[in-house]
Amino acid sequence: VKDVGIIGFDFYFPLTFVEQSDLEKYYGVSEGKYTIGLAQERMAFTGDREDVNSMALTAVKRLMDSSKISYLDIGRIEVGTESIVDKSKSVKTVLMQLFEEHGNTDIEGVMSINACYGGTAALFNSVAWVESSAWDGRFALVVTSDIAVYDHGNARPTGGAGAVALLIGPNAPLVLNTVRASHMKNTYDFYKPVFSSEYPQVNGAQSISCYYDALDKCYSRFIDKAGSSTGKKYNVDSFDYFVFHSPFSKLVQKSFGRLVYNDMIRSEQFANDELEKLSDKELEKKMIHISKQKFSEKVLPSTFASKNLGNSYTSSIFFGLISLLAMEDPVDKDIVLFSYGSGLTSSMYWLTCKKSMKRWVDSSAFFKRFSNRLRQTPEEFEYALSLREKLIKTPHSYHPISSIDLLDFQTFYLDHIDSEYKRVYTLK
Ligand code: ACO
Repeated sequence: VKDVGIIGFDFYFPLTFVEQSDLEKYYGVSEGKYTIGLAQERMAFTGDREDVNSMALTAVKRLMDSSKISYLDIGRIEVGTESIVDKSKSVKTVLMQLFEEHGNTDIEGVMSINACYGGTAALFNSVAWVESSAWDGRFALVVTSDIAVYDHGNARPTGGAGAVALLIGPNAPLVLNTVRASHMKNTYDFYKPVFSSEYPQVNGAQSISCYYDALDKCYSRFIDKAGSSTGKKYNVDSFDYFVFHSPFSKLVQKSFGRLVYNDMIRSEQFANDELEKLSDKELEKKMIHISKQKFSEKVLPSTFASKNLGNSYTSSIFFGLISLLAMEDPVDKDIVLFSYGSGLTSSMYWLTCKKSMKRWVDSSAFFKRFSNRLRQTPEEFEYALSLREKLIKTPHSYHPISSIDLLDFQTFYLDHIDSEYKRVYTLK
């Protein structure tokens, strides 16, 4: 098989969102803290009608409808999430209800969990399956679904929600290159040890420094591996686009500046440079300034969804890719992706766009999906989170109360959880 990669995609995010500028006022922080300091515009959220299962069901159904591929033609489903609702039963098994109806129960794959990284693991596994001797000629699906919510405090405005479904197979328009690099370590920067809560334990500053460290390590290994595979010299100019896992947009801008800085060190331009004398914060600012033009060409097109949804965890990197594909038609272009999951796992990988992906998303349809959303007040956002807390703490015989009017048509939602903790989903 040749050119294994991403053939198509679809996605889902909740209809309800809150403006970051409204949250600044509501939480009494200084104006601009979230909108400029974090560079976030809006945050998607949902009440107690949705969970990762329902969002994954919606994303997969949308992809199956838009691709017109038969349910019988899927031979593997890999799910990435970090918002599990069951310690044993994987989201993948819930997705099987869509395939059982069509008589297909012969589908490999389960779930990958490690913070925001699970989708990348799912992608690597699915591509490996198509390239393996066990491949049976059918497509794979990579599905990511997460609801990111934080306890009261500084991290709360960095939540978000969304789900993505990717169709994987040979002769793909977006081909996964063999050059990739990883950095994995045992850290406690962000983790979820309390099963009765959706909120992570998070050390914000540590999580950011772990992210940067992972970025530096992955980039340097990635550039070395690319160089040794082709004999050429690589730097940011060798690639057309960069897509980053985006906890908040400001981090993406700083991260790209960091790559340019890494290039300077590698090319030894650094030795006599003034940059050496700067403090970390000054250097960060300087690098944002130096890399500004390249940032707007190579990175900005991939930041739209995350600015408008917030951190969608496992889906974040794919929403970045989809934003890029909606904004540009990057045929013959090379795209570098950086995936990070706290705890920690990270990889940098390379997609080459060989054919147009416009069939899957054009910019007007893409923007429309965002502009059709329902703006909610910070009070409504807080209320929705309080309902989620109830759902998580007392799931036994739970009947959600969030209004179905707040959901889009053709959306799966949680109808109820019964007295045996079984979840029942309905399609609106
Ligand atoms: N106007 C403009 N900028 C402002 C303003 C203002 N009025 N007020 C503050 N800022 C800036 C700050 O200077 C800072 O920018 P800088 O870092 O460039 O100096 C930025 O806004 C953030 O403010 P801080 O006070 O430094 O940070 P805060 O305590 O609000 O926490 C954090 C931010 C750490 C991101 C927190 O929201 C968090 O913990 N989020 C979850 C963890 C996370 O997302 N980690 C990232 C990687 S791991 C993952 O993906 C989950």
